Amino acid sequence: MGGATTVDKAPSILYRIVYIGDEVMVSLIVNGTPTEIEADDDKPLLWALREDVGLLGPKYGCGIAECGACRVLIDGESVPSCITPLGSVAGASVVTVEGLAEPDGTLSAIQQAWIDEQVPQCGFCQPGFLIAVTALLAETPRPTDADIDAAITNICRCGTYPRIRRAIHRAAAALA
Ligand code: FES
Ligand code: FES
Repeated sequence: MGGATTVDKAPSILYRIVYIGDEVMVSLIVNGTPTEIEADDDKPLLWALREDVGLLGPKYGCGIAECGACRVLIDGESVPSCITPLGSVAGASVVTVEGLAEPDGTLSAIQQAWIDEQVPQCGFCQPGFLIAVTALLAETPRPTDADIDAAITNICRCGTYPRIRRAIHRAAAALA
């Protein structure tokens, strides 16, 4: 990248990536808020969210898209942010665990089910599970156990899987 500042052809300010020397200014929506992040365009979205936006919900576990601790929703899809370059999400809507509740603080049905089933142990992996399950229930409102096993590949070192499964079924029933 050279020193000149260029703007791509997208029509909206929300669909813009501006090159500034060796960095980019990426405009995107984070948890409903228009946000600009200036960083290397290949900086993992995980670290952009944590270091540049201050959202510490997405966690670093493996860095190779295996554990799911870093998952966020990108335009509704559950994605491992540890391998997602910042430059690839210009104009996207990104939702982290901090954005799952309503603006007035009302928890999502999934978050409430997590509390009702007392799912977390250490809690480290849980933001990624909540994101993955949010995407699952948006696509498959009443998942079977097989659906859950196929879709939710996150890793929990504390072994909370049985409670996670119960919480998913509880949330699905609440949303039905
Ligand atoms: S840190 Fe991204 S999947 Fe493990
Ligand atoms: S609750 Fe501890 S790693 Fe999942």
